[in-house]
Amino acid sequence: MARILLGVTGGIAAYKALDLIRLATAAGHSVRVIQTENSQRFVGAASFAAITGAPVLTSEWERDPARGAFPDQPTPEHDPISHLELVRNADCFVIAPASANTISKLASGAADNLLTSAALAASCPLIVAPAMNHQMWQHAATQANIELLRERSVTIVDPEVGSLASRNEWGSGRLAQPATILSAAEQIVPAGARPWDGRRVLVTAGGTREPIDAVRFVGNRSSGRMGFALAEAAAARGADVTVIAANVDLPRHAQISYIDVGSAAQLEEAAREQFPSCDLLLMAAAVADFTASEPASGKLKKDGRSELELTLSPTTDVLAALSGLRSDGQTLVGFAAEHGPDAVEVGRRKLASKGLDALVINDVSGADIGFESSSNEVTIVTAGGDRHVPKADKLAVANEILDAVDELDRAQARVPG
Ligand code: CTP
Repeated sequence: MARILLGVTGGIAAYKALDLIRLATAAGHSVRVIQTENSQRFVGAASFAAITGAPVLTSEWERDPARGAFPDQPTPEHDPISHLELVRNADCFVIAPASANTISKLASGAADNLLTSAALAASCPLIVAPAMNHQMWQHAATQANIELLRERSVTIVDPEVGSLASRNEWGSGRLAQPATILSAAEQIVPAGARPWDGRRVLVTAGGTREPIDAVRFVGNRSSGRMGFALAEAAAARGADVTVIAANVDLPRHAQISYIDVGSAAQLEEAAREQFPSCDLLLMAAAVADFTASEPASGKLKKDGRSELELTLSPTTDVLAALSGLRSDGQTLVGFAAEHGPDAVEVGRRKLASKGLDALVINDVSGADIGFESSSNEVTIVTAGGDRHVPKADKLAVANEILDAVDELDRAQARVPG
């Protein structure tokens, strides 16, 4: 848990700060907001006050009704002498979105509003997430200001490349994903503050592709969303996370390490290498059970054939193989796509046959859950019983799965780290 002071400046991306607060509070952090006057043209103070549960400050001249306290702190009996009490109580100060103008003021040391004064007075780590038009971001002045801030140990969460607010505009300058900004903040709050600090988590995500020839493959519909959500949720709890990503085309997080693989054999090689140094394996990837026995080195031609026979041979069951190599203290979670009334029964058998601590059964019967969808509905099977997680977005489901891992630890009296 950390006390995050969030500075919001003027820009269309100000609405994303609401999402950032939602993620931060869901992860157990306490948040207060300072806005610039211009940012209130985009999102009003009432929205920020409602989701933080605390007053929002804009000017040096207004009283803070919470007297500098964060929502998890008692309000002091007396008004603090300084209006900067808030920044003294913060574990980190995140400015998101940070406009070109505010970045320029931060670089020059200006203190012409509460937000810039707070930044100047902050002894806690400062994190700046820029968001602006592509030309403004690329401008030499902005880039020089950013370099100066980096030299002063300010953490910059680089903007993303993509479509920008103005119609038909594309380029760099789009605010980083709220989850990326939050994990940047979580990486620099004092060690030991988060429940999974020190825990090493290995996640496999996506779906493997088995080559038939130089350009074709046998694949599956797994998008990697569930695995990436698990990685994000584990990183938010403080874990040191590595993802083995099989053909995943999704945004990445600066605080997570990624190893890209294509086929089941490549995934197996990477997993065998990484597994010995992990405390928890979350095997969410859809690994092919069969691979082409003799993939062609070039591109197969039709050559007037009326049919083409493809011979497949079995791959290694990576999860079962790793389970056979496990050492004390390692937790293994498998995933299985099942459907029908006996799904849990089948899952229970897989739990035993693969030697797992938990098996997450993905119901693939509904069209709007699983695979490419952003939501999921699962049943978590452990030796202690079943836990049904109703349909929710994949990050929420990921957090339920991690809670189940915490329960396993408590049952086995294992402490993370
Ligand atoms: N798995 C694996 N290696 C494989 C196949 C699957 O590590 N070659 C892992 C998956 O990552 C997942 C779990 O095993 O965590 C899924 O197990 P299972 O349901 O046995 O995989 P399927 O092959 O889909 O099962 P079935 O035989 O029922 O089709």
